[in-house]
Amino acid sequence: MPPPNTDTPGFYPPHVTPAPNPLRFPFNVQTLIRNNLELIPEQAYREPVVNAPGPPRMVFISGSEQIKALLLDSGDKMPKGHLQKEVLRPLFGNALHAVEGREWRWQRGAAAPLFRHRDLIHYVPVIAEAAEAAVENWRKAGSGSVHRIDKDVIHATYQVISRTVLAGDVDALSDMIEEKRPDYFNGVNWWAIYCMFHLPHWLPRPGGRKMRAQETRIRNGIYRLVKERRRHGADGDDLLARFMNAQDPESGRQMSDELLVDNIVSFLISGFDTTALTLTWALYLISQSPEWEARMCEEIEQVAGSDPIAVEHVEKLAVVKQVLNEALRLYPAAPIIIRDIEQDMDLGGVAVKASTIGLIPIYAVHRHQEYWEDPNRFDPGRFDEHRDSKPSRYQFLPFGVGPRICIGAAFAMLEATIMLATFVRAARFSTPPGFTPEPMAQMFLMPKGGMPLEVTLRDRDRTSDG
Ligand code: HEM
Repeated sequence: MPPPNTDTPGFYPPHVTPAPNPLRFPFNVQTLIRNNLELIPEQAYREPVVNAPGPPRMVFISGSEQIKALLLDSGDKMPKGHLQKEVLRPLFGNALHAVEGREWRWQRGAAAPLFRHRDLIHYVPVIAEAAEAAVENWRKAGSGSVHRIDKDVIHATYQVISRTVLAGDVDALSDMIEEKRPDYFNGVNWWAIYCMFHLPHWLPRPGGRKMRAQETRIRNGIYRLVKERRRHGADGDDLLARFMNAQDPESGRQMSDELLVDNIVSFLISGFDTTALTLTWALYLISQSPEWEARMCEEIEQVAGSDPIAVEHVEKLAVVKQVLNEALRLYPAAPIIIRDIEQDMDLGGVAVKASTIGLIPIYAVHRHQEYWEDPNRFDPGRFDEHRDSKPSRYQFLPFGVGPRICIGAAFAMLEATIMLATFVRAARFSTPPGFTPEPMAQMFLMPKGGMPLEVTLRDRDRTSDG
């Protein structure tokens, strides 16, 4: 356990109130619709394994040994949760996220080279430019104005994923995807309930029509792109070209148009929302912590001065990364991952029956009383690399762990570091009077109703100070 932080006063950002006990039907369903995070029982924040009788039967696994056994030691034999796959299927089809075994290895191998460190560094100027463009928009609106930071950051991260791994292909879809994204997320929790009880996708449900329309719009837009690229040949080195040229080494099979659409959609959606949410929460946290804001500014000034953030700066921005890690700890963008327990198991002395939904509540693992000192307190110092005791990869796992670990983790950290440094150097952020964000999970962990923040530009300050 890391040593206690002695700074005062402490800042305790908002967190969900856990269910006092594992919820039974129908309370589990009602809660899941409202906010996935409230389903996690209080016991999961202090015990390694907690059974929830259901129906459906679930088990919350937050102990390090048990997470290791499930996600790492069982290799790729522990299938990703059926529930998660079914929820995503209408949008992601049979993409990398949803497949297992040989099929997964082939698809993952085709995408992996694009996410190697030496390839990622080529994206740095694009990331810096997208961040500067967001700052420029705040400047145009006037220092001191209030912005929906979540939307602004989503716009910036969309530009990045679109212009890097997707080579500009999806630029034309940005308005539709960004503007209409609530149509998808507002319907997703209800859809998860339908999947739990094996109800069909077309059956009416709250938010269902808009959600289905958005799924169709996104898939049709990407389908047109794939057709276009087929006509012109699969040149280039972007994700679509790599997937088009990929061949299953055993069967020699190539990806169908349908599978190309599945994968491009899944990389696009996974590739901007998650990073944007991490940045949104980081900016909120910093808005409430002048001490860490000052430490970041000092570091950025020393490392990069007023130059655009470049590759050589990134690894020196240690404080910026500490703040990002703390944002990922308190608000992991993908707060729950799922595995199917297919056989009776003993998990750390707790019997778990076959056909149980295994939930790894990353949100609760990151606030587990056994692993974290004062877990609800904001303290980026936990990630100081000079500290003796550091969280293990089973205690801090915002990107998952094991073979199915997020393929985009290094990309996301690179992007978030450059963007956060650019934003904090350019502006101070503060909450409008009376506003406190409410963490809510609709697939991803987001601030309910968005994140309005007041943006005060620093260069304006200097001008007015004379
Ligand atoms: C802060 C940003 C991000 C977070 C917190 C995050 C989180 C995660 C997590 C927890 C998983 C593992 C799910 C599981 O084991 O069931 C995952 C998988 C995945 N992520 Fe990310 N992700 C982020 C950014 C990205 C980016 C930028 C991309 C692509 C450009 C991406 C693409 C994927 C893909 C394709 C998978 C599936 C990998 C597989 O099954 O082999 N993610 N992500």
